[in-house]
Formats: sequence, C-alpha cells, structure tokens
Amino acid sequence: MGRIILIGFMGCGKSTIGIKLSYRLRCPITDTDKLIEKEEGRSVSEIFEKDGEEYFRNMETACIKKLKGAEHDLIISVGGGLPLREENRRLLKELGTVIYLRAKADTIYERLKNDNSRPLLQCDNPMEKIRTLMEGRRFAYENAADIIVDVDNKGFEDILGEIELHIRNIT
Ligand code: S3P
Repeated sequence: MGRIILIGFMGCGKSTIGIKLSYRLRCPITDTDKLIEKEEGRSVSEIFEKDGEEYFRNMETACIKKLKGAEHDLIISVGGGLPLREENRRLLKELGTVIYLRAKADTIYERLKNDNSRPLLQCDNPMEKIRTLMEGRRFAYENAADIIVDVDNKGFEDILGEIELHIRNIT
C-alpha cells in the first residue's frame, strides 16, 4: 500500500479519518503536529506563542524529512499549513500518496468555532480568517494532492469508502 498522507485545512478531519483508516487498513499512523509536540515537549500553541510561526514551519520541514526513514506502510496526517512550502510539497510526494481532504469554509467554521487549539484562528473574526487562509492555500493543497476527496456533508463511512477505493486503484 505504501504511505498515505492526509492533507487539508484545520478541522477537515485528517486526524480522525487517519485513525479510522489506520484501523481499517491495519496500518500504523503518525501525525506531524504530535511528533513536533513530542520532540519539543510543548503544544503547538505554546510553540507559536513563544517562538513564532516561522520556527514551527521549520520544525514541520525537519519532521517530514525524518519521515523518509519511517515504515513503508504508514498513514501520515500533517498539519494544515505544512503543504504551503514548495519544498514540503516535494517531500510529501516523495513520501507517498497525498490525499487532500477538501472542506468548505462553512464546514470548517462549524467544526472549529468552539476550539481554541488553533493559534491561527484565535482572532476577532475566525470565519473571515478561515476564508482568507483557505483562498490563499487553495493552490498549495491542490498542487500537493494526488487525490482529492470532498468531505462536506459526508459521514466518516462514506469518506473512508472513497479513500479505500482510491487506494485500491493505485496499488
Ligand atoms: C495549522 C494547522 C494545525 C497546526 C497549527 C497550524 C495551519 O494543524 O499545525 O496550528 O497553519 O493550518 P491541524 O491542521 O491538524 O489543525
């Protein structure tokens, strides 16, 4: 099967879908935010607050470089901003098959409106911020993706079914 990489905007379901997929495919899973938090011994929010976004982005690049040495069959969910760097998009392609979980701004807002773990959305108008970030990121996500799966108004079963179908087609 090789490595499956899940990308997409914050709140699109990368972590949850990654875990469910890992059960189904009996395949281990890892997550770049969690790897970085473990290495740093602090949360993503704390890293942003103390050392800034650029520092965190450098950690992301270092993190996916290290994953080159990881298991051959592995699901990797990556932070929402990781595919923004061209270098990272190239590294992701080298790592495996990239699946973009695409969601609309309204879907993301509904899921994250009560969440305070995303430093980029701690602002006066999170809906507006989601729209702006999404627009600015559209190219990066689509450019990084081998496969795009739309997730709006779909249950997990449907999304997992679509992903499995794609995986079967490519392996
Ligand atoms: C970010 C997404 C977050 C986390 C950080 C920055 C982003 O990960 O890496 O808060 O720039 O979109 P999730 O996509 O898992 O929320």
